[in-house]
Amino acid sequence: MKNLRIIDHPLVKRDLTILRDVQTPSYVFRSVLRRMAALMAYEVTRDLPLKNVMVKTPLENTNGSIMEHSIVLVPILRAGLGLVGGFVEVFPEARVGHIGLYRDEKTLRPVDYYFKVPRDLKRAVVLVLDPMLATGGSGAEAITFLKKKGARNIRFVSLLAAPEGIKVVQKRHADVVIYTCSLERGLNSKGYILPGLGDAGDRIFGTD
Ligand code: PRP
Ligand code: URA
Repeated sequence: MKNLRIIDHPLVKRDLTILRDVQTPSYVFRSVLRRMAALMAYEVTRDLPLKNVMVKTPLENTNGSIMEHSIVLVPILRAGLGLVGGFVEVFPEARVGHIGLYRDEKTLRPVDYYFKVPRDLKRAVVLVLDPMLATGGSGAEAITFLKKKGARNIRFVSLLAAPEGIKVVQKRHADVVIYTCSLERGLNSKGYILPGLGDAGDRIFGTD
């Protein structure tokens, strides 16, 4: 599929297996998700452009590199919060916005309740973080908000993505590359991803 990148590093596959396991308790789920997010951060940013700089070693001057664009992380609340820690380890200077959305249980449509993002999104690489891309309603809505605030260079980062959700995001936002650790089989009648890992927010925060 166009604009879809599967992160298939063996360490990511190992960690995803732990997250899928219904027996994995919240405290393990959270720490594995954080570790996985750091691994994902490498893959999601491997093609970002660099700027040359001079660096003075203790012995002489040499060429070095810095990132050309600033990074803005935007987790979709709540479950996206579970990915922030790992990304911030890799990008300690990243600014972080938040988008509050939840799915109405009956209509499966996203309901928004919070939006706060940094200024100057225009020149930044904006990484939208949400473990689950199911119907695609939440992801597509979040991207629309970010574009209204000026974001031009957006990547959507998920753990699991259903074909239905990928289609919706790609239709509404053809310019956005979707990263995921697994292209899943589909959705059940309640909009849950199969085989999935259940409700990501509940598993991270121990609610149900
Ligand atoms: C989950 C998940 C996504 C959304 C995906 O959030 O974190 O944001 O569902 O579903 P969609 O692709 O069909 O829109 P949820 O609505 O459960 O809210 P929560 O994170 O606050 O529990
Ligand atoms: N949201 C989740 O947390 N899990 C799913 O399987 C689908 C949407």
